[in-house]
Amino acid sequence: ASYKIAMVGATGAVGETVLSILHERAFPISELVALASERSAGSTIEFGARSITVQNLDNYDFSGVDIAFFSAGGSVSRKHAPRAAAAGAVVIDNTSEFRYQDDIPLVISEVNPHAIAQYKKHGIIANPNCSTMQMLVALAPIHHAVGITRINVATYQSVSGAGRSGLDELAKQTAAMLNGQEFPPAKFSAQIAFNVIPHIDDFQDNGYTKEEMKMVWETRKIFEDETIQVNPTAVRVPVFYGHAEAVHIETRDKISAEQARALLETTSGVVVVDERKAGGYPTPVSHAAGQDPVFVGRIREDISHVHGLNLWIVSDNIRKGAALNAVQIAELLVKSYL
Ligand code: A2P
Repeated sequence: ASYKIAMVGATGAVGETVLSILHERAFPISELVALASERSAGSTIEFGARSITVQNLDNYDFSGVDIAFFSAGGSVSRKHAPRAAAAGAVVIDNTSEFRYQDDIPLVISEVNPHAIAQYKKHGIIANPNCSTMQMLVALAPIHHAVGITRINVATYQSVSGAGRSGLDELAKQTAAMLNGQEFPPAKFSAQIAFNVIPHIDDFQDNGYTKEEMKMVWETRKIFEDETIQVNPTAVRVPVFYGHAEAVHIETRDKISAEQARALLETTSGVVVVDERKAGGYPTPVSHAAGQDPVFVGRIREDISHVHGLNLWIVSDNIRKGAALNAVQIAELLVKSYL
């Protein structure tokens, strides 16, 4: 069988990567529809050797579409995903719009693929936040083995997570500043070139940002464990592609660094890069950018806690953190459900 696919946000950083991954993995496509706002309607995007004309989402009728990927922001999903689902498409939504709704599955392909089964009620499957995604791919086998009770995490998140305008701002601001020119922040709330910013998404009443709370809510939902404690600080750094995370976990039973390393070495979607020497660890630029796996290094026992373990987790936020997982959900969907 082959499927009619729609990509909402086809001109964006994630949309473009969904299309290239669909092509790379030879997803069975009978027809591909590229959708965006009226701003880019009529322009063309590449799909393999073909050019596809972008259509305006506002007046697109989803009848006949089998799977619709949405990556055009929460308000676009709120308005258009339900009508796409009502027209019979299964929506795979990359925004946070539906992630916290109990009867909408939130799925990481390696971690909780069984949750996809719930999609029939609303016709929508939510794709998790990029920071949560890479963290849980690496932590799931440890959680299953010894029970994680608490996660402390600080993220180092690249600008591509803020979309094309985030990539542009880092590039242009860096070039301007190296030429002695001013480039005031617009997309980011402070200068991002040569700086780090502890603020992603909106502040919440408890003093955490929404990006941080996404990691709390999504970890509990995906692990199906309301007791797991998560304490995140999310930071934007001047990196183009790839998020890194310093993760400190506390477990119910003790796990040694060696046991954790052995477990992760056999985990699907994970590559361990953990040699205690210069370069023996993953970084966004040296390992993750443009690649599929979640890379884990710096695995060591916490000298401040008897049941504590430290890990450094790096992945391409646009690939596993967004586009790749969305395509993997689609692959599971066509294999077992459509
Ligand atoms: P457009 O090219 O028309 O602006 P990014 O995350 O890289 O910023 O990309 C956002 C994507 O979402 C783009 O493809 C953008 O299309 C699309 N988009 C933004 N707003 C809308 C909207 N109101 N309707 C449809 N697509 C939208």
